[in-house]
Amino acid sequence: MEKYMAKGKTMSMFYCQICGHESRRWLGQCPGCKEWNTFVEETVVKGKSGQRSLWETKSPLSLSSIAMDEDERIETSFHEFDRVLGGGLVQGSLILVGGDPGIGKSTLLLQICREVSLKKQKVLYISGEESLKQIKMRANRIGTFTEDFWLLCETNIDFVEEAIRKNKPQIVVIDSIQTMFHEEISSAPGSVSQVREATSVFLKIAKGMGITIFIVGHVTKEGTMAGPRVLEHMVDTVLYFEGEHQAPYRILRGVKNRFGSTNEIGVFEMRDNGLKEVKNPSEYMLNGKPKGASGSVVSCSIEGTRPVLVEIQALVCQSYFQLPRRQATGTDFNRLNLLIAVLEKRLGMQIAGCDAYINVAGGIRIVEPAIDLAICMAIVSSYKNKSIDEGSIVFGEVGLSGEVRGVSMAKSRVMEAKKLGFKTCILPEAALPQAREIEGIYLIGVKSVKDAMDII
Ligand code: TYD
Ligand code: MG
Repeated sequence: MEKYMAKGKTMSMFYCQICGHESRRWLGQCPGCKEWNTFVEETVVKGKSGQRSLWETKSPLSLSSIAMDEDERIETSFHEFDRVLGGGLVQGSLILVGGDPGIGKSTLLLQICREVSLKKQKVLYISGEESLKQIKMRANRIGTFTEDFWLLCETNIDFVEEAIRKNKPQIVVIDSIQTMFHEEISSAPGSVSQVREATSVFLKIAKGMGITIFIVGHVTKEGTMAGPRVLEHMVDTVLYFEGEHQAPYRILRGVKNRFGSTNEIGVFEMRDNGLKEVKNPSEYMLNGKPKGASGSVVSCSIEGTRPVLVEIQALVCQSYFQLPRRQATGTDFNRLNLLIAVLEKRLGMQIAGCDAYINVAGGIRIVEPAIDLAICMAIVSSYKNKSIDEGSIVFGEVGLSGEVRGVSMAKSRVMEAKKLGFKTCILPEAALPQAREIEGIYLIGVKSVKDAMDII
């Protein structure tokens, strides 16, 4: 871009609103994220922006001379939230909270703000979406707030920055980044250049003042507004808040974390007085599991550092279509097709002509290969219309030749199953030594999918 423009000149560029890919001309398909019709023209000004320095100190320092406070993290007393962040809020960090509109991002952050303000930390909640009265109405549903909770309705970045610098809060929430705009940038709020500029301002404030800033980003499907993915590389931590609108559960998933492990999840339930933590996700996920039904198998997946039990459901029936229907809800569709092919070839089952549906109950999305064996068993169980013993749990990765391969953290998976009262565990033979010393649960090691089928 540099060579085309002189300082202070305006020019137009095209940006993919999903991933932020930049192009001089309009493109139908984005070369970056392969989405269609996501390019929007934006006018950019070559000026001071983009050349901000984040840090106050300019000269290099010796590492040992850098002082650190004992307690750099603020805990929120929402354990599920702290866990996803790796043990609380890190001061001076910028955290992006993404999710579908209406999923509960504002509610979650309002509750987090309440928790930290109860601990005498000054919080400033800046909304560009709701009026003060509307936020008050929401806050009344959640509980009582102290004087340390401050509110501002503003969308102009300059005023927002001024308010933060003047009020000196410890925690700031920007709800949402797509409503913020910078006067010097001519494109509309929510465009790639606007959200990037706004984020770089907040990054500078967070690092410079040593405060924690949350920015809310709506996930947009149509590419009319820049989504959170455009900002992922700029922030310290990326959290996604997921769930089905109709169901009450919500899952907070860490996808990037500079100060902790990623892929950690926190489970919440949306009630009429706000979000409630789900302390034991396994119990919650297995809630409502049918008794004695065919096609239902319990498996165990590792989410972050924690084992979570899930029910895998399969429905296999004769197809009346030329091309049988296949559907995977909560897991990978291609993996389902692959496992069906393995069953066809290695077990000689005739399911190519059947419709097959797979569902991970509870609305959680699991792509870990450790649930492969459970998917295979659920398919066979439904196909043969024979139910699988309710007290048993199954896990293991399935390879293309039908072999069952070892998985990580087998011991904690078995422990979790035992904790929830399961009596039998079918697991890869390779994982047996890890779990052998656990008592009170019967372990069956299998080498291949065929071995597993012979058991049932
Ligand atoms: P909201 O936090 O406004 O979503 P977002 O900020 O992600 O767009 O959540 C709105 C939904 O949550 C809305 O459908 C109402 C529901 N809700 C409850 O069920 N209980 C509550 O206590 C609150 C505050 C909201
Ligand atoms: Mg909101």
